[in-house]
Amino acid sequence: MLQARVTLDPAAVVAPVSRRTFGSFVEHMGRCVYTGIYEPGHPLADEDGFRTDVLALTRELGVTTVRYPGGNFVSGYRWEDGVGPREHRPRRRDLAWHGIETNEVGIDEFARWAAKADVEIMYAVNLGTRGVQEALDVHEYCNQPAGTHLADLRRANGAEKPHGISMWCLGNELDGPWQIGHKSAHEYGRLAAATARALRAAEPGLQLVVCGSSGSAMPTFGAWEATVLQETYDLVDYVSCHAYYEEHDGDLGSFLACATDMDHFVDSIVATADSVGARLRSRKKMQLSFDEWNVWYMSRFQDQPKPTQWQVAAPVIEDEYNVADAVVVGNLLISLLRHSDRVTAACQAQLVNVIAPIRTEPGGPAWRQSVFHPFARTAALARGVVLRTAIDAPVYETSRYGEAPVVDAVATHDAATGSLALFAVNRDQARPVELTVDLRAFGAPARPAGSWTLWDDDVRATNTRDRPDRVTPRPAEGVTVDGHTATLQLPPVSWTAVRLTTAPTG
Ligand code: AHR
Repeated sequence: MLQARVTLDPAAVVAPVSRRTFGSFVEHMGRCVYTGIYEPGHPLADEDGFRTDVLALTRELGVTTVRYPGGNFVSGYRWEDGVGPREHRPRRRDLAWHGIETNEVGIDEFARWAAKADVEIMYAVNLGTRGVQEALDVHEYCNQPAGTHLADLRRANGAEKPHGISMWCLGNELDGPWQIGHKSAHEYGRLAAATARALRAAEPGLQLVVCGSSGSAMPTFGAWEATVLQETYDLVDYVSCHAYYEEHDGDLGSFLACATDMDHFVDSIVATADSVGARLRSRKKMQLSFDEWNVWYMSRFQDQPKPTQWQVAAPVIEDEYNVADAVVVGNLLISLLRHSDRVTAACQAQLVNVIAPIRTEPGGPAWRQSVFHPFARTAALARGVVLRTAIDAPVYETSRYGEAPVVDAVATHDAATGSLALFAVNRDQARPVELTVDLRAFGAPARPAGSWTLWDDDVRATNTRDRPDRVTPRPAEGVTVDGHTATLQLPPVSWTAVRLTTAPTG
């Protein structure tokens, strides 16, 4: 058995846990909207056509903020196609995913769904084929209370109260040549700045997200952010980050260590943003919105033949996730929490069917994928502040990311209730780890208050329609708390969460 040690101190605070860390993403793509959140003919559909089984799972997942309506889709989207009487809404080609968009669901329907799911909307405007005026129009439609043309149109369409959306993304991934309306950093930076200025003139308190790179492998990574932020630094609150990971060629060791890449990604964007801020003599600290992250077997998708037919809601990238994928998702959440001083919003992409924690069958059941579980438990347990988590663990060599520690972990502490949550992964493929948690700095002795571990003898096991609970967390074995020391056994390739009760001090 390997040995590792974590030392926690309630005074070593990174930042408050931002509830927006537990965001998700609903794009008009594949079966995320149609037969995902919305399926009017389904036996469990409510009066608005929303699947109540998906709504219940969304609430159980603990999602706080949902980015909408794209993604690549948004760069060719006309928001006004999706409002007003359904029989007048046009069917359009979606060039991003080669589908037909029926526009049965638009912003008013999505706002109704968001209220039922108890989530905040993060709305992305189209800066691919459109610009400042259309961004202002959709803002007026959504947020202006009454007495103007578009506000009154919303009311006439049945939404008396404004949708009150406070977080707005200025386009999506415009650095990518695949993006409809792809731009150079300079072109995009100017357009994003003009759009931000106009939106702020309409509503000064909005929180605006400017597009960073679509991934760290982009040739313009870093340079794109520097140019875009030079144009927009004082006008926006967040720069976006996007990262997807997959296991390449059976290299499980590297895949399990991919959170070290996310750590590096965040550190690089923080350094880039801070250097622009320094150049501009600004005291503002740019926040990061990691508004697309997940495991995505992109190489399988890229190898598939491109569709020749234009179809409505054809399945696209419906990855089936296994135990190792769930361990990685739990680890990526550890990385995001660790950076809570700068990453204050994040969205797992996506929510339903499309690389998603929730899967559905049209007319049939909905079920939790393996990756659902670490997200749901982390969202439920992470409260209060994130603690700087000192880890002493053996290391191993990976071909993609160099040396990586076998154990990664982060802790949160709610001083008011005394609740301490520790999240940890064991990346070793063969050996369990005995993890010792040093709690001396907490003063009074701690008590165990629940544990969950996700592992399996078969790291390739998945949940399916017929075996929806094949992969599910179980109580962690071997958790002992002896006053100021907790000891946990972490099985090989596992994710674990432990809740401890300490003396409330808040
Ligand atoms: O989430 C799937 C796609 O990944 C999004 O549409 C796009 O923004 C990203 O490239």
